[in-house]
Amino acid sequence: MKHGVPELEDLPDVSGRSVLVRVDFNVPLKDGQITDDLRIRAALPTLSWLTERGAKVTACTHLGRPKGEPNPKYSVAPVRDRLAELAPGIELLENLRFNRGEEANDPAFVDELVKGHDLYVNDAFGASHRAHASIVGPPSRLPSAAGRLLAREVEVLSGLRDHPDRPFVAIVGGSKVSDKLGVIRALLDLADELIIGGGMCFTFLGAMGYGVGSSLFEANQVDSCRALLDEHGDRLHLPSDIVGLGPGGKLFEPEAGGEVRNFGRALPDGWMGVDIGPGTAAEFGDIIAGAGTILWNGPMGVFEDPRFEAGTRAVAEAVADSRGFSVIGGGDSAAAVAQFGLADRVGHISTGGGASLELIERGDLPGLQALRESATRTH
Ligand code: 3PG
Ligand code: MG
Repeated sequence: MKHGVPELEDLPDVSGRSVLVRVDFNVPLKDGQITDDLRIRAALPTLSWLTERGAKVTACTHLGRPKGEPNPKYSVAPVRDRLAELAPGIELLENLRFNRGEEANDPAFVDELVKGHDLYVNDAFGASHRAHASIVGPPSRLPSAAGRLLAREVEVLSGLRDHPDRPFVAIVGGSKVSDKLGVIRALLDLADELIIGGGMCFTFLGAMGYGVGSSLFEANQVDSCRALLDEHGDRLHLPSDIVGLGPGGKLFEPEAGGEVRNFGRALPDGWMGVDIGPGTAAEFGDIIAGAGTILWNGPMGVFEDPRFEAGTRAVAEAVADSRGFSVIGGGDSAAAVAQFGLADRVGHISTGGGASLELIERGDLPGLQALRESATRTH
């Protein structure tokens, strides 16, 4: 038991018992094929811990956002096939979100889920920020525990809050400030330095008075950005140079033309900021090199377009080269680290984008709270 959350060892004897395991097998699919099975592989230690001890395991997951109705496009069939290869003998229920009761946390759906099961394990870190039926319901009905993956994620991410080696450098990118304002505020409390890149930097640069051309820009967030800059400007690091894509240019379509050019902080009308420039990449690299702890969430530019991957690659390399403990906060940054072949040179890659941000921001998740409460109950 860590942070009051029961673990596999805290369960009653699992031998011969039926165990319902909530996993997050919400994997990326393209034309019905899984393009990255990390989330399936990441649950294997828990699944094999249970089967090796004689438990009968039924796994359950959501996949995509089918909005409460069966939809063949979101069937778990490809996931079930992959799971059968990796962990034969484990049953996988159909997509939980085919039932309206899942997202509504309907008690009747919880009853249906736990029926016939003796024990419950949550190993769905990536979905534990959702107060959905399969996450928060079963712990009120069955003896319950966190699986290995969930426990490890909590240990690493809570460690960033509780006892980071300093200096703690946080790197935040991605397209929208509005999505990440909460976590940016939390990180300004927890971290020593905060680096901001990606599309969201233009709302900050706009707040500082620079022209942003036709870059991503959230006018309704300018006041919040300005307030953060006023209060924390010395620890908030923004790009000092920008790669711009000129009028007529299109992302992912180099043949469409459009000039690519480096600018300082200001972009002319019609130009779109698509990456941090080489000067910024070097400056950010220097800050990262001195870090004792690093948290990275969100790319520095449109790295999926090879013309604009350099900034994200430079940051990924600086993170990999650092002697500090590095944590990649899921989603796009995890994909970037994998794309650059650096995945085995970072400390921890989280399997949950939204969940890791929420755990860092709030220090808790609905799924963890449910497990903690379950430990105080006699079932
Ligand atoms: C994710 O992929 O972020 C998790 O599986 C949660 O999915 P959701 O954002 O659709 O709830
Ligand atoms: Mg998500």
